[in-house]
Amino acid sequence: MAVIVIVGGQWGDEGKGKIIDLLAEKAKVVARFSGGDNAGHTVINPYGEFKLHLVPSGIFYSQVTCIISNGVAINPAVLLKEIDDLHNHGIDTSRLFISDRAHLIMPYHTLLDELEEERRNKGALGTTRRGIGPVFADKVARLGIRAGDLLDEDTFRSRLSAALEFKNIILIKVYQVSPLSLEEIYDQYCHYGEQLAPFIRETSSIIREAAIKGEPVLLEGAQGALLDPDFGTYPYVTSSSPLAGASCIGTGLGPREINRVVGIFKTYNTRVGAGPMPTELKDEIGDLIRKKAREYGATTGRPRRCGWFDTVAGRFSVQINGLSDIALTHLDVYDGFTSIKICTAYKFNDEVLTSFPSDIAILEKCQPIYEELDGWQESISGIRNFKKLPAGARNYMSRLEDLLSCPISLVSVGPDRRQIILVKPNTLL
Ligand code: GDP
Ligand code: IMO
Ligand code: MG
Repeated sequence: MAVIVIVGGQWGDEGKGKIIDLLAEKAKVVARFSGGDNAGHTVINPYGEFKLHLVPSGIFYSQVTCIISNGVAINPAVLLKEIDDLHNHGIDTSRLFISDRAHLIMPYHTLLDELEEERRNKGALGTTRRGIGPVFADKVARLGIRAGDLLDEDTFRSRLSAALEFKNIILIKVYQVSPLSLEEIYDQYCHYGEQLAPFIRETSSIIREAAIKGEPVLLEGAQGALLDPDFGTYPYVTSSSPLAGASCIGTGLGPREINRVVGIFKTYNTRVGAGPMPTELKDEIGDLIRKKAREYGATTGRPRRCGWFDTVAGRFSVQINGLSDIALTHLDVYDGFTSIKICTAYKFNDEVLTSFPSDIAILEKCQPIYEELDGWQESISGIRNFKKLPAGARNYMSRLEDLLSCPISLVSVGPDRRQIILVKPNTLL
């Protein structure tokens, strides 16, 4: 293990939390590099079940330094609650650090996310309403407030008053709602600042020094490739890049430091929120997958849309992330399926497409072309040896590897940390 980036390969919720909790056993540093508390990473280990929104999934090991890097947008209230919950479970957070460059989610960001979604009405994007679009828009508009600003009350006050003056004009004149109070936000965030001050510092140096020493570092992605603002199903995307490339900008590490890039893929596809999903199953098979795998959002509780594995989208994800390995999760969910479909191409009018279109107007009209494989009947959740998997499961994996042009190194057969199969003796663990 050296520097490994771990990213979602589909539309999020692939099981990143589980895989990072497993791989972190050997890590020295685990750093989240993008997104915000729109993420919900489930970890099930001997300490209990956790849904982490901001804290890296390596927090359960005493040797790991956990970093919320500059690429993450932080809602201080959510982070403080998460730290509190971890303390209540006996988890030590003294090795958690927050980048002073990370942008803060302010009350007007969550309010504007709500108001913008309401205004879009039937065209709503189905955001998590956590203020993600507005906070990243402010970052590039140079109106943002960063964690480090909380360390100096005068700097914080002047940045807040400049931003709020503008936000209140939008709230009053565009949305016709009441303005927000400078004093209330100032007092509330100064209080958060006092609580978070011990965690806030320059963090890129910690990650870089570990990488230079050859210590194992994991860079934890959030969301999934198809939600990327550039390469995803725009405009039905999130507002920071979930791709492996963003792990450099989101942490301050140079691209030459990255040794492996692991994409997490579910055995099928899911999506929460609006936007095209060619293999979506609006039938009893989709309902069966949702029921068996409890496919409900870890952040919003919304039912996830479920469908067959889409290798057109998957291949694109392998390419735009430059994946070296795949970790395939949820293979157990197909236990008892007599046959399994894989989407190998799309039919668009009279054309057969094998590459992922950049225009959603095309993607929305694409019909999946399926290949059908035999399933397996036995339960695989107790299996730990690749050779003991039923032939149907091994054939399915091998076909996915061919279609995606990337090796599967790890297979997850249940939500618990121990429910894992190493495909070959491998260097990820
Ligand atoms: P993340 O956002 O990528 O970390 O994924 P989520 O935590 O949002 O969603 C993954 C869900 O699948 C969680 O409920 C996990 O506990 C569960 N899970 C992870 N791996 C497996 C697996 O191999 N099999 C099954 N059945 N569930 C899994
Ligand atoms: P993890 O890290 C699944 C989706 C939302 C919506 C779109 C935009 O747990 O995989 P946003 O609130 O980001 O502006 O919403 O992105 N979305 C996710 N879907 N998993 C996530 O994170 C997601 N984070 C955002 O549902 O469709
Ligand atoms: Mg999730």
